[in-house]
Amino acid sequence: MKVGHRQTPYTHPRCNKTPSQKEGVFYCSGKSTSRACKIRRVHTRPHKALFPLLRRLSDGRFHSGQALADEFGLSRASIFNVFSQAEAMGLAIHAVRGRGYRMPEPVEWLDGAAVERHLGAANGAYTIHVLDSVDSTNTALMAAALSGAVDGTLFCAEHQHTGRGRRGRQWHSVLGGSLTFSVLWRFDTGLQSLAGLSLVVGLAIARAVNRHSRHTARLKWPNDILVDYRKLAGILVEVQGDMHGAAFAVVGVGLNVRLNEAQRDAVDQAVVDLAEMGVTVGRNQLLADCLLELNAALSVFRQHGFAALREEWLALDAYAGRAVALALPDARSVQGVACGVDETGAFLLRDAQSILNPYSGGEISLRLEGTR
Ligand code: BTN
Repeated sequence: MKVGHRQTPYTHPRCNKTPSQKEGVFYCSGKSTSRACKIRRVHTRPHKALFPLLRRLSDGRFHSGQALADEFGLSRASIFNVFSQAEAMGLAIHAVRGRGYRMPEPVEWLDGAAVERHLGAANGAYTIHVLDSVDSTNTALMAAALSGAVDGTLFCAEHQHTGRGRRGRQWHSVLGGSLTFSVLWRFDTGLQSLAGLSLVVGLAIARAVNRHSRHTARLKWPNDILVDYRKLAGILVEVQGDMHGAAFAVVGVGLNVRLNEAQRDAVDQAVVDLAEMGVTVGRNQLLADCLLELNAALSVFRQHGFAALREEWLALDAYAGRAVALALPDARSVQGVACGVDETGAFLLRDAQSILNPYSGGEISLRLEGTR
């Protein structure tokens, strides 16, 4: 039996879960299912009591094993096992004989109502779904989109067991130490109108981070967010639809809030998190700021396209004027000098003959010359 997988409010094709709705905001039901889920697992599925117990510990105080066992209807051994699972997922839990359990670094867990409050008037632009654990918010939201989810649907999750990155990579995130969410945007102008969309998303997330950070978050084409050439956040935009009719984009964002050693080791590139940048903003406020900036940038993009945001993107371009190499999908590699982006969001590379060549497509990867 699969337990503890809080699921999206839409019936997942492989997990068959159902929604619950409260005051216009969806919250997950927490119901378990006896149907096996065939999704490949990266981490063990969380115990059904894991997130309720972790939320109980968010006050930073000690809670006795017996009191928790009574409150949650579990044995003390189960409480121990649940917290062992949390530790295995990278969360520090103090267990002290005679006092109980506490979290030395309490986490601000995601809270749909708090995000709504921070959003203020922009709240109407989103339908918020807070999930405890999911395969990938992008995968779940893509399924929801195909089942008719509305424009502005947001899935944010505490834990992804199959988080996905660009170019078929995994996306590793830390329990309580990451922001992982996906937003659905619908367009009636067709896929052809979406050129530059993923750059707009990067710009919006950089704006949101820069509201709080003394170290400027910059952009690496097409949409990585870097601080001092180390990756703070990644974006995965997946689109479907007609070339000239109805289309939609699932915009996934993964942002490092507080990484642990295991996660740094799992990633094959230089990474940074908000904690080491001295940014202490709560995750609910940060999520709301990302949503506000996404909403503002999207509205400009819908009206005027990427061209209207290009100057701002160029001002944050981390690689401008640097010697770079592009790895192309056909396995070729081209070298030159990075010269920003054009009005469609295509990357501009100046070659050895001083000719400016545009490159576009999510499968291209960019690196500084001389790095691997
Ligand atoms: C990248 O830089 O490779 C893109 C990473 C995108 C990760 C986010 S986390 C939320 C959403 N769900 C996923 O499975 N991926 C995106």
